[in-house]
Amino acid sequence: MPLEPFYDPAKSYLDNFEHGPFGLFADTSPASQTIEPKHQFLGYPVFAPFGIPAGPLINGKYVKAALDMGFDIPVYKTVRTHRYECHPWPNVLAVKVEGDLAPDRTLVANQNYSEPLSITNSFGVPSFDPEVWQRDMAEVVAYARPGQVVVGSFQGTLPENGSVADYIADFVLGARLVKETGVKIIEVNLSCPNEGTANLLCFDIHRSRQVVEAIKDEIGSVPLVIKMAYYKDESRLEDFLREVGKTVDGISAINTISAEILDEHGKQALPGAGRLRSGVCGSAVKWAGVAMTSRLARLRGELGMKFAIVGVGGAGDAAAFDEYRRAGADAVMSATAAMWNPMLAQEIKGQAHEL
Ligand SMILES: Cc1cc2nc3c(=O)[nH]c(=O)nc-3n(C[C@H](O)[C@H](O)[C@H](O)COP(=O)(O)O)c2cc1C
Repeated sequence: MPLEPFYDPAKSYLDNFEHGPFGLFADTSPASQTIEPKHQFLGYPVFAPFGIPAGPLINGKYVKAALDMGFDIPVYKTVRTHRYECHPWPNVLAVKVEGDLAPDRTLVANQNYSEPLSITNSFGVPSFDPEVWQRDMAEVVAYARPGQVVVGSFQGTLPENGSVADYIADFVLGARLVKETGVKIIEVNLSCPNEGTANLLCFDIHRSRQVVEAIKDEIGSVPLVIKMAYYKDESRLEDFLREVGKTVDGISAINTISAEILDEHGKQALPGAGRLRSGVCGSAVKWAGVAMTSRLARLRGELGMKFAIVGVGGAGDAAAFDEYRRAGADAVMSATAAMWNPMLAQEIKGQAHEL
């Protein structure tokens, strides 16, 4: 049975924001480290190349708890250049999937979180204003001890009636605001499925290149990681890499896989327009994360590129960590499994072979 999650799906986002984290994340203290970190992630020493990807660590309290619990590469949740409301509750539901989740399936959701755990999450990438998150992010960047590194994630917002130039300018502003916090590694989310699957930025190769080059111009030598979705078509992935693979320092994949989410009566499970489809993560998407990692590793070699690969998706135990590392991941991250198992980093440090 999973442990008490550090983000409680039964509560609202704001309730989690103000009162969380919960369970074993609620009352942590800095772990004493006696060994030297022997791994590197984008030039920074880390004890283990393992962390929590963008999303579940919704503010600095969550990031601090993750660091204390031994997640050495925590990602501060994706922020925006201005306040942005969260979708209505519920934002997380359990989904039942037999085996691997193929894209574009219909799934039944409920609140019964059991192993093997897969969930859907639907927040809409909420954000507070930069005055709020910049101070908070700066604090946790300073809190990380040697052997740990905090990543700051952000995304641009398409302004109402805005042009492409406005959209790109918002990415550049976001990058500048995140950089101002002193964060050592910046991640840009090119793959948010909750703004319409057809519109995933990472499937628009030309626009992705424009965005990534504009961000890199802004942030200079700070390493830039891009967060990508699962690419079905391998030759398109190669085209994508030819356009952006030399500009970015890291690629994190995958984000969630979109599915139609119904309740037990066959009705839309998540209330509100545009929420019939929602992103699925956890154990049922591991196959896609590992497949993307293998392809990225192979194409990186073939194209003579150097970007680091962050393997994400269903990495719920030491065996999955090993599988990702053998597939070519430089680092591995877990969102869903880590939410329900705050001991996951320590388990991996104790049990993984590919460390
Ligand atoms: C609660 C929650 C919130 C998420 N929010 C974001 C986000 O804001 N930005 C992002 O790039 N990915 C987000 N994700 C996706 C995760 O970073 C990750 O790519 C995905 O969940 C697959 O990993 P997993 O199977 O370990 O959960 C979120 C995931 C979860 C569970």
